Amino acid sequence: MVRGRKIEIVSFLLLQIVVAATAANVTYDHRALVIDGKRKILISGSIHYPRSTPEMWPDLIQKSKDGGLDVIETYVFWNGHEPHKNKYNFEGRYDLVKFVKLVAKAGLYVHLRIGPYACAEWNYGGFPVWLHFIPGIKFRTDNEPFKAEMQRFTAKIVDLMKQERLYASQGGPIILSQVENEYGNVDSSYGAAGKIYMKWSASMALSLDTGVPWNMCQQGDAPDPIINTCNGFYCDQFTPNSNNKPKMWTENWSGWFLGFGDPTPYRPVEDLAFAVAIFYQRSGTFQNYYMYHGGTNFERTSGGPLISTSYDYDAPIDEYGLVREPKWGHLRDLHKAIKLCEDALLATDPTVTSLGSNLVASEYKTSSGSCAAFLANIGTESDATVTFNGNSYHLPAWSISILPDCKNVAFNTAKINAATESTTFARQALKPNADSSEELGSQWSYIKEPIGISKADAFVKPGLLEQINTTADESDYLWYSLRMDIKGDETFLDEGSKAVLHVQSIGQVVYAFINGKLAGSGNGKQKISLDIPINLVTGKNTIDLLSVTVGLANYGAFFDLIGAGITGPVTLKSAKSGSSIDLSSQQWTYQVGLKGEDTDLGSGDSSEWVSKSPLPTMQPLIWYKTTFDAPSGSDPVAIDFTGTGKGIAWVNGQSIGRYWPTSIARNDGCTDSCNYRGSYSSNKCLKNCGKPSQTLYHVPRSWIKPSGNTLVLLEEMGGDPTKISFATKQTGSGLCLTVSQSHPAPVDSWASDSKILNRTSPVLSLKCPVSTHVITSINFASFGTPTGTCGSFSHGRCNSPRSLSIVRKACVGSRSCKVEVSTRVFGDPCRSLAKSLAVEASCS
Ligand code: GAL
Repeated sequence: MVRGRKIEIVSFLLLQIVVAATAANVTYDHRALVIDGKRKILISGSIHYPRSTPEMWPDLIQKSKDGGLDVIETYVFWNGHEPHKNKYNFEGRYDLVKFVKLVAKAGLYVHLRIGPYACAEWNYGGFPVWLHFIPGIKFRTDNEPFKAEMQRFTAKIVDLMKQERLYASQGGPIILSQVENEYGNVDSSYGAAGKIYMKWSASMALSLDTGVPWNMCQQGDAPDPIINTCNGFYCDQFTPNSNNKPKMWTENWSGWFLGFGDPTPYRPVEDLAFAVAIFYQRSGTFQNYYMYHGGTNFERTSGGPLISTSYDYDAPIDEYGLVREPKWGHLRDLHKAIKLCEDALLATDPTVTSLGSNLVASEYKTSSGSCAAFLANIGTESDATVTFNGNSYHLPAWSISILPDCKNVAFNTAKINAATESTTFARQALKPNADSSEELGSQWSYIKEPIGISKADAFVKPGLLEQINTTADESDYLWYSLRMDIKGDETFLDEGSKAVLHVQSIGQVVYAFINGKLAGSGNGKQKISLDIPINLVTGKNTIDLLSVTVGLANYGAFFDLIGAGITGPVTLKSAKSGSSIDLSSQQWTYQVGLKGEDTDLGSGDSSEWVSKSPLPTMQPLIWYKTTFDAPSGSDPVAIDFTGTGKGIAWVNGQSIGRYWPTSIARNDGCTDSCNYRGSYSSNKCLKNCGKPSQTLYHVPRSWIKPSGNTLVLLEEMGGDPTKISFATKQTGSGLCLTVSQSHPAPVDSWASDSKILNRTSPVLSLKCPVSTHVITSINFASFGTPTGTCGSFSHGRCNSPRSLSIVRKACVGSRSCKVEVSTRVFGDPCRSLAKSLAVEASCS
């Protein structure tokens, strides 16, 4: 006993020593965050832990580290952690402590954005909806009930992190915390109370004594010592609000989010790299990719409204956890080049010189003589050749060259040395079970959800109710039901008891049923106005309106009060005479949620599933169930919902989110090839116009067993579930790259002391992404003036006839290969022309 106690004390002391030894002192000065007395250049990326699974986290974090990140940034998601007041959840995808510890284990830092307002295209911006029902509460302003809750939750998170010794001051990875989020964008709408609240947020945060700095983003007047940081597609023009604060960028949008009904945004990596490079060129020292891995809005976590289930974001790591090339690789090269400049960047402020119109050089020098330079061409039209320190450099339009020794170029933002990898979705015919020869789809069972009121807790109220106040967001669904007697002589009727039902809703989907039959539907973000021709009968009639939310608003002043649902008017009118009757203030019967939600049909466990054929299809409100075996292999899995309408899906009881393949992207604004030159905006580069916004839905591998899996769908509008297919996302069957003679040599040709090693010619280097693969064929190779892009390369006027055989010889049979891009290797097929080498290879 005594001995045990001694060991306990000794190990406690040892732990203290270890903690004391590894505890870091994090402060800042006007140039950078300062960790243990040393200024740091930090490269950060956002990964939101509930948008992937704990099983995915280690790989995502490792890929972030391999991509050159130092810091992982995440919000804390209040409504995930406290779904009901005082009932906490820190398990599974919400195991924040585990996530932070995994980041620490990989040797990376954490920026914890506690908020607790997040925004983030997350349901209700991360606020739990129960907060809205606290008497007297007003969100994000000088309001006691709100401040009490915000302080309680913020303190709860800080305490949890402290208990686990996760702050850097305790030896943990957290070097920075954020309070609030972009409040400066909206605070004027809250008047004087907004300012009081902002200052209160700052001092409340500071009082929690984390031992590391706090930041507020987009808050130009953030009080000292809180660091005000910038969010945007570019932040090179940003200056912090005090000469003692470093220039920090908390959200560099690596792409943009997708909405149902919208085309898919993408951001060319040349522009993203340009934005990063010019930020460090102009004295920035911390930037964060929002997102580095976007992930998936599982369950009902997406905000918006109308944010899609995929939160891929065109991020360097895709929704499924695979690196997106050449984005990931080009940024990795950029990070290496920036890190080669770290000592010089941090030593001083730069000397800035103009090299001509739109051409700027920034030179950083240490007292011991190291020198790093950034050369920028911020013109959007023409490439330039500049002279710097007596040497000549080619600068493509809208690009930055990085010279870690002020002489040799290690990187140019517009010259990509990372190969494009093809990724494909491979269809898999799934068997309902191992012994079956049938394919998935032959064994579906179903349960019909009653149309209209079916639950005992339905209630009657006069007038039309706002939806969120009624459902408290416990479900997407709210029934508004009305019975009415029709005599046949009403003035709003046309002959044959025809009429027009007019319904107005503030979002997001309405289905109108007349006497149990679907008569019409519509959807919209904040306004739906339907005029549906209907047939009534003499005698009793039922009007059942099903209103459906698709994520609650998450951004803007007073977003919490935007509301949803059928707020009216609801009228019946004659198409001919225009005579009408307003039903809005009638006695409506309400039902929150669906019967099948109450009985947890999503789990698949019910005994009521019907397997009689034929399977009813293309009818609204049916629950479907089937079983399936895991797709073979270990590649990430998606379900292709083409053929279905809209609903929610569960795999083995886990909700994979809302599916809506019939939501079609608007048909304008897309471009096949987006010019990366010039300022980016969220609608500059769009693809997928006129097609379903999202057909593929991620099912994390860890949610699938080898066999006997259950898939349940709640189909709202009518569809055919037998059309569903599974797909696995595969990477690396094809590799493409074009490297010109003016490309810098790979950044790997630099030693860590910022000295360039001997080789100075550009090199085309290929590597099969899958470790067991080798390059099996070279489908195209041309040194000269090749044209086209991956998959459609062709020879130009100038081509070295030896191209294919040289590249084949160097590459086929190996996992990776390097080929020098020079006339020394290929000969010179056309003396006066600038040449490049384009290669398309296959791996397997
Ligand atoms: C920012 C916000 C983020 C996210 C982003 C868009 O304004 O801070 O949380 O919503 O916009 O993806």
